[in-house]
Amino acid sequence: MKIFVSYWLPDAPLNALREKHTVVVNKENRVLTSQELVAQLVDSDALLCVGSKVDKAVLDAVGPRLKIVANWGVGYNHIDADYAAQKGIMVTNTPDVLTDTTADLAWAILMAVARRVVEADAYVRSGQFEGFKPFSMLGGDVWGKTIGIIGCGRIGQAVARRAQGFGMTVLYCDARPLDKETERALGVRYMEIDELLKESDFVTLHVPLVEETHHLIDARRLSLMKPSAFLVNASRGPVVDEQALLEALRAKQVAGAALDVFENEPALTPGLADLPNVVLTPHIGSGSWETRTAMADVAVKNIIAALEGRTPPNLVNKPVGR
Ligand code: DGY
Repeated sequence: MKIFVSYWLPDAPLNALREKHTVVVNKENRVLTSQELVAQLVDSDALLCVGSKVDKAVLDAVGPRLKIVANWGVGYNHIDADYAAQKGIMVTNTPDVLTDTTADLAWAILMAVARRVVEADAYVRSGQFEGFKPFSMLGGDVWGKTIGIIGCGRIGQAVARRAQGFGMTVLYCDARPLDKETERALGVRYMEIDELLKESDFVTLHVPLVEETHHLIDARRLSLMKPSAFLVNASRGPVVDEQALLEALRAKQVAGAALDVFENEPALTPGLADLPNVVLTPHIGSGSWETRTAMADVAVKNIIAALEGRTPPNLVNKPVGR
């Protein structure tokens, strides 16, 4: 059978597929156009989907052999999983293996923006450092403050566990509140989103991108935040109205933002990159060698299961006929 891998991945995880199947890997160092993708999918049995948009048009154009779109990543908002289900195509993702790595990154950028690490680095590199100055490059404390976690699933909970080490008060909101035992174990308190925004010194987003979370953080919600508070987004860009964030930052309605994802990735809202109180990273939430390789392993396991007629471990849709 033919498996198409839509972006370069290391060989090791793909070797398990090569034992029995033909693996074709996109050799271009870029995401393929829909046309290029479809050209590969007309005779493919599986797609290992790395960043490619798989919408209705693509799903209508693929060949009848396609059984599975195995996403390399936990978030699959770029794949029309419901439509795929109608066509009998399985969609899978790669949860769990990236939870802690993504939580680490959220913390890394939270710390960076609060303690001005990126600005301070640029300051030293530019030769401006003339020796210790007691009131130069000061940031705000992280330890002992209040953090509000919006979306307390796997990654949100991993962020909460880390917050305990910083002696923080941890608030959370989620469409499905945690059970009391989990709340106690994590040391977190449920709060409605607007209240959480008013109370928190750090607000960190860990929701999937669905209709309900598009622009969840808009101008009104930004105006609820403390002027001393920081916003962290390592979930999906469109969860934040980026233009509204830019305006809130300029108006000093919020103290700063740390963003790993952007509304119109890879484009940035003009003006965002000019602000010193913003830390910007290129969608590297899960970006460690170990984790990104483990994600490929999981995607491969999902494909092998599907091609052997088993239900893949990380099926996220309900294909008709299954
Ligand atoms: C994920 O797993 O969703 C990451 O953002 C990579 O796409």
